[in-house]
Amino acid sequence: MKIVFATQNENKLKEVQSMMPEGVELISLTTLGQEEELEETSSTLEGNAEQKAVFVYEKFGMSCFADDTGLEIDALDGAPGVYSARYAGEAKSAEANMDKVLQELSGSTNRQAQFRTSICLVSEGQKQFFDGIVKGRILSSRQGEKGFGYDPIFAPEGEERSFAEMSQDEKNAISHRGRAIRALKEFLSQK
Ligand code: IMP
Repeated sequence: MKIVFATQNENKLKEVQSMMPEGVELISLTTLGQEEELEETSSTLEGNAEQKAVFVYEKFGMSCFADDTGLEIDALDGAPGVYSARYAGEAKSAEANMDKVLQELSGSTNRQAQFRTSICLVSEGQKQFFDGIVKGRILSSRQGEKGFGYDPIFAPEGEERSFAEMSQDEKNAISHRGRAIRALKEFLSQK
């Protein structure tokens, strides 16, 4: 079974391919010659994942899934959420994004937050959604050097370490993306 994973990020593709059931081959946007970034203009994670998957399905006529992830902070009413990548501006700077979150939460005792990934699969004209959540808290300052995005300031529930202090395997086992991908894998293995 060949399925397009609507991402331009080849590392993400490799990582997700390694988690797929036997017989599922993922095709990247680069392989399809889709160089231009796909539009994400929805106000929800589900909407963005759907927008990207439907675009590819209609343009290339191939089964496709797409994901979208956001960091949802309780004390900020769910922000940065769907705007996580560009929270501090169009430069999409992870450092500036973390500074903004830390500043907005300074003095706040409620540090509860969660990462959430939504995946939309479009196959044979049908849409399916898969969700993955990891709950945790926003630390008072950065910890660790690994990972990307908000990893240095997010510690999953029951951990003193941030995601940026964990190996890729440790993070995958509990992360939002890991959980959403495993739900997708479960679905695909039944096909
Ligand atoms: P995307 O939908 O995977 O491109 O994620 C959108 C934004 O959410 C990224 O640009 C990051 O700022 C943030 N993000 C997504 N996944 C993670 C993660 O695993 N750790 C930290 N930040 C993340």
